[in-house]
Amino acid sequence: MDKPILEALKGHARKVPPIWMMRQAGRYLPEYKRVRATTSSFLEFCYTPDKAAEVTLQPIRRFDFDAAILFSDILVVPDALGQKVWFEGGVGPQLTPVDLKRLALDGPEEAVKRLEPVFQAIERVRAELAGEKALLGFCGAPWTVATYMIAGRGKEDQLAARQAILAEPEACRALFDLLVETSIAYLNEQIRRGVDAVQIFDTWAGSLDDLAFDIWVTEPTRRIVAGVKAVHPDVPVVGFPKGVGLRLQRYVERTGIDAVGLDSGVPLDFARDVLQKRGCVQGNVDPLRLIAGGEALFESVDAILNTLAGGPLVFNLGHGITPETPIAHVHAMIDRVRAWRAPAIA
Ligand code: CP3
Repeated sequence: MDKPILEALKGHARKVPPIWMMRQAGRYLPEYKRVRATTSSFLEFCYTPDKAAEVTLQPIRRFDFDAAILFSDILVVPDALGQKVWFEGGVGPQLTPVDLKRLALDGPEEAVKRLEPVFQAIERVRAELAGEKALLGFCGAPWTVATYMIAGRGKEDQLAARQAILAEPEACRALFDLLVETSIAYLNEQIRRGVDAVQIFDTWAGSLDDLAFDIWVTEPTRRIVAGVKAVHPDVPVVGFPKGVGLRLQRYVERTGIDAVGLDSGVPLDFARDVLQKRGCVQGNVDPLRLIAGGEALFESVDAILNTLAGGPLVFNLGHGITPETPIAHVHAMIDRVRAWRAPAIA
């Protein structure tokens, strides 16, 4: 028997859906803030195996989630490729923008070598994690990572990258090829060192028009999935293209992912009738409902369970938990999910 969450990710319905939360290690937890306060630089924190392993395990101890997600960030990849990346409180990530005309970046092998502390964190978590819990690895999708590499910071409209793919498609292709190759090598090494499944975060997938979507979101993701499956055919791959609406169907069909993360805007009947026919779905409580708690939270939890728990489902939020979320509401959500029982068939 597989771990419960791996069963679900491989397409099997479970009596009680497994649960974890995006950004489950983070600033809403006092124990996270205590460890985080011991290192000023966020990247250095990510690259300290003991600390990264410790905060990865904290939400499992407190909430008994079915999966831990490796504590790191999608922007360790540009950092490991030799781009300057730093984080400032209140500003978010900052990078020295890449020069698309002359890509002065290192190759995948060198990048993966620099990411050794991440793999050491994985080994430490693995050694402490109970047998039935899964460890999830991840990377950012090329499109989302490229939006930061090109603009030099997170911008709500991803304008610089959206213009670059139209004005300089060849130069962008070279950057995406590098990100695809590096992501494949990075995920395969995460798996070799102990993660059970991987998630590809494409937070900004929804900002592209439909033609660009297939070229810069679906196709690079398909290549990453193929590169992982070639080495690790049984390891589930989860895709999370946020804000893409109906295009989720094409994304699932063309990328070959095993499971798809749903943002909070995805209609549950579409998820059941179209997406769940093709594999597992994961989601999708609005993180604002988790802040509100009470009926606002429970009506969403119940709708997700009643519509989707008959098929393969991993219960999650539609995006990351935010720092102001009351811990009691997280407990209430988990209790509600674990108390759920399928209605008896008459
Ligand atoms: O989910 C987890 O618990 C694993 C850890 C994780 C982090 N970032 C930790 C983090 C994961 C999977 C990510 C992914 C990530 N990082 C994404 C894709 C998913 C998403 O949330 O949309 C993106 C776009 C980033 C880039 C990034 N990193 C931003 C925009 C920020 C600043 C946002 C903020 O809230 O300040 C970060 C920093 C970051 N990554 C923090 C954490 C816990 C906060 C920094 C801190 O605690 O000091």
